[in-house]
Amino acid sequence: MTIIDGKEVAAAMKSSIADEVARMVADGDKAPHLVAILVGDDGASQTYVGHKEKCCNEVGFRSTVVRLPGETSEAELLDRIAALNTDPDVDGFIVQLPLPGHISEQKVIEAIDPRKDVDGFHPVNTGRMISGLPSYLPATPDGILSLLRYYGIETAGKHCVVIGRSNIVGRPMANLLSQKGWDCTVTLCHSRTANLKEVVASADIVVAALGKAEFVTADMVKEGAVVIDVGITRIPSDKTKSGWKLLGDVKYDEVAPRCSYITPVPGGVGPMTIVSLMRNTLKAAKGEIYPE
Ligand code: GUN
Repeated sequence: MTIIDGKEVAAAMKSSIADEVARMVADGDKAPHLVAILVGDDGASQTYVGHKEKCCNEVGFRSTVVRLPGETSEAELLDRIAALNTDPDVDGFIVQLPLPGHISEQKVIEAIDPRKDVDGFHPVNTGRMISGLPSYLPATPDGILSLLRYYGIETAGKHCVVIGRSNIVGRPMANLLSQKGWDCTVTLCHSRTANLKEVVASADIVVAALGKAEFVTADMVKEGAVVIDVGITRIPSDKTKSGWKLLGDVKYDEVAPRCSYITPVPGGVGPMTIVSLMRNTLKAAKGEIYPE
């Protein structure tokens, strides 16, 4: 059994992004500029945006965080987005989700210029992805593909079971793994799937992205399977400084011995998502997806 080390892969990829940025700057180009909009004071969102800012600094990007109060109106936020869409000094931007209840996330996502949508959430980018056209890939599925590639894990002809049908993880993951080059036979499971245990137990590759702590147990995993755990449920803990710890969607201790490869939580998929965002921002700065 091999434990997939997301921190190691993320560090290697960050270092190659940093090298490329250093070359761009040495050639007289501007460093890529990523903007994050954060509305309100959700603790987890503040932590994520802080990590994104830190990563930008590490790879040599310019980074701006726009912090708006929780009472910000939808119209005000849409105005901010319109300004970023036309700001030539901004290569890409994200609006951290979730947003306060009075703001429509869908309206916000659709207001972002697809050329600057480095989260890859705009329907133009998801549509292009599904059609196999160049697009910004959503960070978590893209990070998982990078892990599979780095470890040389065979996917062609394998049965991959994705658990969870969210727009940002499960559905894009299922679609990407079915595409040419990855060539998986994919089953997408969700809360209404019949015989879920049996379906998961038939998988060569399991991607658990349903958001239920320790849902996947040893009896659901075939001997020798590859298990990718996307879950990050925070639970209170008196053993950590922060007062909480993270649990994945997989019951790691009992599942790991059955696997050929498994991602731990934390330190598996998590560190990869920010690297994917950095990759998308670099592509935006270079005009790779939408050439002028
Ligand atoms: N909230 C949780 N994950 C994400 C993400 O990848 N992007 C944004 N914008 N918000 C998130």
